[in-house]
Amino acid sequence: MGADRLTTTDWSALVRPSLLGLEPYRPGPSLTELKRLHGLDEIAKLNWNEDLFGPLSGAREAVEAELENVWMYPEQAYSDLRTAVGGWIGVSPELIVPAHGIQALIAAVSHTFVRDGDAVVVAAPTYGLYAQVCAASGAEVLRVPCREFRLDLQAMAEAAAASGARLVWVCDPNNPTGAHVEVEEWEAFLEALPAETVAVVDEAYGEYVQPELRLRRERDVEDGRRVAVLRTFSKIFGLAGLRLGYAVVAPHLAAFLNVVQEPFNVNRAALAAGRACVAHPERIEARRQESAEARAQLSRLLVEAGMEPVPSHANFVLVDTGVDDLALAERLVAHGVLVRPGSEFGLGGFVRITVGPLPLMERVAAELRMARDALLPANARR
Ligand SMILES: Cc1ncc(COP(=O)(O)O)c(C=O)c1O
Repeated sequence: MGADRLTTTDWSALVRPSLLGLEPYRPGPSLTELKRLHGLDEIAKLNWNEDLFGPLSGAREAVEAELENVWMYPEQAYSDLRTAVGGWIGVSPELIVPAHGIQALIAAVSHTFVRDGDAVVVAAPTYGLYAQVCAASGAEVLRVPCREFRLDLQAMAEAAAASGARLVWVCDPNNPTGAHVEVEEWEAFLEALPAETVAVVDEAYGEYVQPELRLRRERDVEDGRRVAVLRTFSKIFGLAGLRLGYAVVAPHLAAFLNVVQEPFNVNRAALAAGRACVAHPERIEARRQESAEARAQLSRLLVEAGMEPVPSHANFVLVDTGVDDLALAERLVAHGVLVRPGSEFGLGGFVRITVGPLPLMERVAAELRMARDALLPANARR
């Protein structure tokens, strides 16, 4: 088969027109490539907000024990996981829709609601996949700027009302800023939301929020509000590689999501690990505290080094470095530390750093200080 034959079909004339001009997600060079490029043995991966403390204890053993069953499809309705998660968060299993991560649920929600030409509202900056997936479904994406790094829920509700938006995407705590939504803001937002709009809340980092500050949006779902909540096992549970998440939605909406989701989209190992994690809520709380201490220490060290971290309720810290963030990230990777440059989400001069064990935080702060000093004018160095 000649390579020239591969170009005989103009696929862009055949695919949905809404895909034209959209770029696929590019994960960047792999760790192996980076190690080779910079001659490194190890790289600290602080750019993707995985939980650097590792899987919660009990998850690994549950996966190992499940491996002998992997010749079978996962149980059709995932009833064990739905019961376990429902018991843990205090809702009926009927409200739980498992999926292979929030990313899959973002697509399922978008396919369920968005028609060509519908408006959807997202914050700027926020997690990029909402806009990407909705644009691919033919939506017009309206971006509402954050105010002082916080979601401006009032302006988001106003944008929804003015445009008759189908969906408003709320990321709480917001990635990449780490800010969380307060109860009063949330209640006012729900009241202001027009009747044709659904609020989709991505709580990927929700379990890192102090329990007293956390919103119980499963109660909004039970109260019949137009709210869909998305949660994941990728973050505090330390299972990003297994791909497991779930939605909390009204049973009627669950049925629609299950029409558009593929059957058996969650694997047995992930289901077993998820059940093992929620069986021990005290381990989740211990992880939250460990992570919060490390986050506080990282923020302290960044301030000592002359930088301005944004207060965070998640497992990452956004910090204003006052220097070129792309150059800074480049210097850091050469020293085996990967961080996310803020320019990638419109915040030049900032970097986003994933929180991990204390010794790692100390190392990262020291590396960051040195790399930043090298980029500062001589009279501004500390
Ligand atoms: C806000 C947010 N939502 C969703 C995800 C991805 O979640 P999952 O691994 O469950 O697909 C991420 C990953 O970084 C995220 O930051």
